[in-house]
Formats: sequence, structure tokens, C-alpha cells
Amino acid sequence: MKINLFKVYKTGLASLIVIIGLSFLNVSVAEEKKDTKGDFARGAKAWVDNCVRCHNVRDPKELRDDQWITTTFHMRIRAGLTGQQTRDIIKFLQTSN
Ligand code: HEC
Repeated sequence: MKINLFKVYKTGLASLIVIIGLSFLNVSVAEEKKDTKGDFARGAKAWVDNCVRCHNVRDPKELRDDQWITTTFHMRIRAGLTGQQTRDIIKFLQTSN
């Protein structure tokens, strides 16, 4: 039997590309799943780091849970927070009010 080396190379290369592609896909899916909820401890730190830059720190007890959602989304734009930081801060504020 004659083995066509070019064909073997092409098939190998194609599999490699698919495997690499799949592993990237896997990683991004895993990361998204891992971090969708807010985290209290991370939120407390992000709150201290970000929410005192422009005004005095606002007491978590100042607002209700639903009000913190709208306010933090409003402040997210001002503070340039990521989605994850915003969810973490909301979790912190809602747990502490
Ligand atoms: C880049 C500056 C800046 C940062 C950072 C910032 N704020 Fe504000 N914040 C403002 C301004 C300006 C106002 C006055 C209302 C307005 O014009 O949006 C305000 C108002 C508020 C108010 C009053 C309610 C309201 O919507 O007017 C609360 C509560 C508040 N901020 C909480 C926070 C929290 C929590 C964070 C952290 C996630 C934060 N802020 C980060 C600028 C900032």
C-alpha cells in the first residue's frame, strides 16, 4: 500500500485545527458558566476600589435591593466597570442593606 504523505499531513493538520478550535470553545464556555452570579467578597473589594472615586461611599442601607440594581447599572457606565464587577457589587450591596 502506498501512503500519500501529503494527505496524511493534511488530515493531521485539519484535526489539529479542529482540536485547537474546540479547546478554545471549551475554555470560553467554561469561563462564562463559572462566573455568572455575583460574588460577595469580590463585590466588597470592587465597591471600595471603585465607588469612592467620585463621591463619598454610599451606604448599602441607603437603597432597596431593586434600587441598587438600577443605580449600580447607572454607576457602571460612570465607573467603567465590567459586567462581572457590576454583578459582584450588586451582590455585595443587596446582601449588606
Ligand atoms: C466616574 C464617577 C463615579 C463613579 C466611579 C461612581 N459614581 Fe455614583 N454617582 C456619580 C455621579 C456624577 C452621581 C450623580 C447622579 C448622576 O448624575 O448620575 C452619582 C450618584 C450616585 C448615587 C445616587 C443615586 C443616583 O443614581 O443618582 C448612588 C447611590 C451612587 N452614585 C452609587 C455609586 C456606586 C455604588 C458606585 C460604584 C459602583 C458609584 N456610585 C461609582 C459618579 C460616580
